[in-house]
Amino acid sequence: MPTLFDEFQLKDLTLPNRLVMGPMTRAKATPEGVPTPIMATHYAQRASAGLIISEGTWPERRGQGYCDIPGIETQEQEDAWRTVTDAVHEEGGRIFLQMEHTGRVGHEINNGGIQMVSSSSQPADFQIYTHEQGMVQMTTDVHALTTEEVHEVIDKYYEAAVRTKAAGFDGIELHGASGYLPHQFLSDVANTRDDEFGGTPYKRTEFAIQVLKKLIEAWGTSHRIGIKISPNIRFNGISEEDPDPTYAILLERLNELDLAYVAFQTPESLRSLSGLENEDLADGEIWHRYPYEFIRERYNGTVIASGDLTQEYAQKALEAGKSDLFVFGRDYMSNPDLVERMKYGWPITTVDMRRAYGSANAEVGYLDYPTYPEEREQAKAAAEPEHKVS
Ligand SMILES: Cc1cc2nc3c(=O)[nH]c(=O)nc-3n(C[C@H](O)[C@H](O)[C@H](O)COP(=O)(O)O)c2cc1C
Repeated sequence: MPTLFDEFQLKDLTLPNRLVMGPMTRAKATPEGVPTPIMATHYAQRASAGLIISEGTWPERRGQGYCDIPGIETQEQEDAWRTVTDAVHEEGGRIFLQMEHTGRVGHEINNGGIQMVSSSSQPADFQIYTHEQGMVQMTTDVHALTTEEVHEVIDKYYEAAVRTKAAGFDGIELHGASGYLPHQFLSDVANTRDDEFGGTPYKRTEFAIQVLKKLIEAWGTSHRIGIKISPNIRFNGISEEDPDPTYAILLERLNELDLAYVAFQTPESLRSLSGLENEDLADGEIWHRYPYEFIRERYNGTVIASGDLTQEYAQKALEAGKSDLFVFGRDYMSNPDLVERMKYGWPITTVDMRRAYGSANAEVGYLDYPTYPEEREQAKAAAEPEHKVS
């Protein structure tokens, strides 16, 4: 029986185990999107993961929906990311960059006043945090990209991919999920175009496919490029009336690209992320959730699942052949040594989500979650009587 702690061959990259630290936005970069030294420490602390996927990172400033999220557009950003990848590699880890263009998800307040873009001009009906005004309605001034401009955005992904490679990453994950720009092209609700990028399920997949081809060209191989999708998720103002035909074609086309992997996030996971009541997981057969079977049936390569996984669910899904690799998101925030904790049956620390984001007191809830051996040391020290010097 395969276990989560077995090696896995991701094309030419050997992963020491099947646990993936999921991409998680933490808003610890500078306002200009330059990664900070604490990010290097944070990721290096988690280097025993089979694979780390970085937080969503914008390929161009228009795609910076949120405050203090990093970019990979400038030399300064590339150099700062190099310190992160070096730190992870020194600890023996592997890290992909997640490339996230937020499209219409965001507000000009957060990106230096630049008009945000999408497949169409409809705004996302959702709220977003700004330092200046707190929670606000997402931008209502969305520019529908012309066909020519879509090609310009695709070229921006290419340039960003060249920088990603130069920064020492092991690969790239295209963020095609969660209502961001590629998803704004995939959705039959958000995308009302009738050019080569919309109008039919096939054409709605065209943007993601063309971006992936550019990433592959920039990297020199498809084997270090993956994509994350989230069919039928309702988040960031995205919705899909009839997602299956589009995703069926997308997966068929992804088979032809021979990528490193396809990752997905279940729609239900966002309900639990939003603090809403979770689905009944009592049987532990999490793969009955859409879209485990939908993707497995159609995609021939490596699949990475995410959403509400526990060690037990992941192990069962692995044994049932429903996914190859397993993302842990929130558990990775609070357990830098998650692999060891699971392997040796040590307790898992529950995350404090009040500390999920932010650049004020940035290290708290970010660098200070201990490994289990450190936790035991701390507990021992606290139990010992203080030596009084008189
Ligand atoms: C604080 C936080 C930030 C996240 N940011 C991203 C992101 O930047 N990109 C992404 O694809 N998913 C993001 N996610 C989703 C996670 O990668 C993961 O798919 C999700 O949390 C479900 O896994 P979990 O149930 O183990 O937490 C984020 C999740 C959390 C909790």
